[in-house]
Amino acid sequence: MDDLRLENQQLRSERDLLRRRLSEVEESFLRAVHDSQQEMLAMNEALTAANAQLQALDQMKDAFLSMVTHELRTPLTVISGITEMLETGIYGELAPAQAEHVRQIAAQTSRLRELVNDLLDLSKMEAGLMRLRREPLDPRALAEAVLESLLTVGAQAGVILRNQVRHDLPEVFCDGQRVEQVLTNLIANAIKFTPAGGQVTLTAERLGDFVRFCVADTGQGIPPEALSRIFDKFFQVQSSTETGRKGTGLGLAIVKHLVELHGGEVSVASQPGHGSQFFFTLPVTHPR
Ligand SMILES: Nc1ncnc2c1ncn2[C@@H]1O[C@H](COP(=O)(O)OP(=O)(O)OP(=O)(O)O)[C@@H](O)[C@H]1O
Ligand SMILES: [Mg+2]
Repeated sequence: MDDLRLENQQLRSERDLLRRRLSEVEESFLRAVHDSQQEMLAMNEALTAANAQLQALDQMKDAFLSMVTHELRTPLTVISGITEMLETGIYGELAPAQAEHVRQIAAQTSRLRELVNDLLDLSKMEAGLMRLRREPLDPRALAEAVLESLLTVGAQAGVILRNQVRHDLPEVFCDGQRVEQVLTNLIANAIKFTPAGGQVTLTAERLGDFVRFCVADTGQGIPPEALSRIFDKFFQVQSSTETGRKGTGLGLAIVKHLVELHGGEVSVASQPGHGSQFFFTLPVTHPR
């Protein structure tokens, strides 16, 4: 009997101990829940604040974009308009020195305009604000239009331009103006980095539901360690001040953005001293 009582007592005290433990655990659990609720509330507040900050930054970027458009582009358009009128001689014949200066104004203005347009395009794409106007277009015709517009630049550099894009490729679904911008950037680079006597060849082939274009040159090529950074904005193997060549290092960054916006991909291969090949793909209008 005594044994049983003792056992009972022991059991009771163990039960009490367990109850105490349980309520302790309960308490600390509730405290933890409360703490984490407080933490979540604080995190939520921080997130809301960060979101508001991001929205403000976004608005600043939009404001910056329209500032660049209006404050830089508009005056440049006015300057080139007036320069053109001076060049035509409608205000009277210019003395040779005047004519030379007007020619320089025109050249520098168009360079500045290109740079402003490039910066604007890039900011637009980075902000996700670039819209494409896509339609079915013939790859060969796209290539033809761009090569024609660059014939003089090629001839001045002593570089032969060849269009070897096949006539029987399927139409690609793209924004013609933007694809012409891609091709212009790639072909202008190919001409710029190819010494006189060299060649630039444009080819294209169908690869599944895509057409892959290739701009190949026989120029100086690109060192292997530079290949992974070649599409980064402002990256140049040698800066323009070192080479005396025009450029800011924005062309290829724009190419990559525009091609990816179409759902395509860019890539590059190069044999230093022998030339480079730049590839990009565009989706065909009617996938198989
Ligand atoms: N076909 C090419 N052959 C050799 N190097 C090239 C070629 N294309 C591009 N590069 C290298 O990649 C760099 C970046 O090219 P990108 O077109 O972005 O800039 P850029 O031509 O220097 O200036 P921008 O295009 O802004 O006028 C070039 O400065 C050059 O060093
Ligand atoms: Mg370029």
